[in-house]
Amino acid sequence: MKIIMLGAPGAGKGTQAKRIANKYNIPHISTGDIFRANIKEKTELGNKAKEYMDKGELVPDDITIGMLLDRIHKDDCKNGFVLDGFPRTIPQAKSLTNALSELGEKIDYAINVDVPDESIISRMSGRRACLNCGNTYHIMYSAPKTENVCDNCGNELVIRDDDKPETVKKRLEVYHDQTQPLIDYYDNEKILASVDGTKDMEEVFLDIIAVLE
Ligand code: AP5
Ligand code: ZN
Repeated sequence: MKIIMLGAPGAGKGTQAKRIANKYNIPHISTGDIFRANIKEKTELGNKAKEYMDKGELVPDDITIGMLLDRIHKDDCKNGFVLDGFPRTIPQAKSLTNALSELGEKIDYAINVDVPDESIISRMSGRRACLNCGNTYHIMYSAPKTENVCDNCGNELVIRDDDKPETVKKRLEVYHDQTQPLIDYYDNEKILASVDGTKDMEEVFLDIIAVLE
């Protein structure tokens, strides 16, 4: 199964994508996580991406598209994948459609996790992230067992650099401007399903499973 997660920054795409990946035993591919891993390792790609991410802007398509297409051509993607944070622009969506159609394949579902902007700001301020394994927590809704320590790998949890309120505001603007048009794009392709992302995490997951099965 090939799945795309759509939704504003902080809508819960990553939270749900991890659960979907576990349930269906397919890789969870987050362009944001790939960029953050590169920033941590101080690679050339990471240094470039950081310039844009810290400002809440999108990393340019020419960098992002090549990186993502390389990833989905790996062997572990043969039985499908769940994409989290890609595509984010119409050119990214078109490149993905074209790359898959060259293989005689297509995306099965685009799941839009719908959350209004007002709820996003409070979610982001409570988010804590593990930059080692990619796990995400929320100080109120999904706190780690020990304060500021990742349940999964024991690493220290941090506030992401781009979760400052001014940057979140910019990310929301960029989302409405460049990414929201993808909702119509995938609606036209007849593979769009929207779920109410304001419900609690388990309920959102059950709503997504109901779409996929
Ligand atoms: P990326 O890492 O993709 O960030 P994002 O899309 O802004 O999404 P987030 O990771 O912030 O949120 P999410 O929707 O995954 O929510 P989460 O599950 O964590 O991208 C970062 C940057 O990288 C971009 O700004 C851009 O610069 C660059 N980039 C990445 N991809 C790119 C691309 N394709 N093209 C160009 N540039 C790109 O949840 C948020 C919080 O809420 C957590 O604390 C969570 O625990 C909590 N939560 C989740 N669900 C619920 C719920 N139902 N109820 C209560 N709390 C919840
Ligand atoms: Zn961890």
